[in-house]
Amino acid sequence: MNIAVFASGRGSNFSAIARAVKKGKIKASLSLLICDTSGAGVLSRAKRAGVKTILVKSDDFTTKRDFENKIIQHLEENKIELVIMAGFMRILSPEFVARFKERILNIHPALLPAFKGAHAIKDAFDYGQKVTGVTVHFVDEKMDHGPIILQAPVVIEENDTLESLEEKTHKLEHKLYPQAISLFVEGRLKIEGRRVRITPGPSPLPPHDLK
Ligand code: GRF
Repeated sequence: MNIAVFASGRGSNFSAIARAVKKGKIKASLSLLICDTSGAGVLSRAKRAGVKTILVKSDDFTTKRDFENKIIQHLEENKIELVIMAGFMRILSPEFVARFKERILNIHPALLPAFKGAHAIKDAFDYGQKVTGVTVHFVDEKMDHGPIILQAPVVIEENDTLESLEEKTHKLEHKLYPQAISLFVEGRLKIEGRRVRITPGPSPLPPHDLK
């Protein structure tokens, strides 16, 4: 299965996924990185990992539709079957989501449906949460909304700062996302309404090995 990562920023999740593919933990080919931001850290990570990269900037297109059509063209040319959103700072149109129905995953650094949006870790910290976490979900037409694949908690301790919470959350993301992708690739995710059933398979039911 050919997979593409969409990212706009630092790219630490991209690297975690690339490592998991390299180690054979995700049995798929990481065929493409789509990035919409010049100079983003993820671009140099992809270069180092030897992953084909395409920069598609929305400013170069008159409409969102044209922008997305160009991306779709790249996905088709590279025979992409699974799209992995990893810090891609754009909402995909319903048309795009329909085109890749149930084949787009996203990761969110909170326990959805709590703290949707771009500042979830800070929002959870400022709210005074005692437990937050990470969610991997299918993408649907609404932001941070589709059926949940995996969730795992992060305990906010008395001595945690925003920085230490960010670190713990990202560390967990780097384990949880490859697990979820691997389940998809193994064909073990069955969407039933809002619920995602994980069918038994060779590896134990995740989340596991999160320490
Ligand atoms: C992650 O926290 C992810 O959950 C969110 O955006 C961030 C991307 O980080 N959607 P990175 O670029 O993978 O380091």
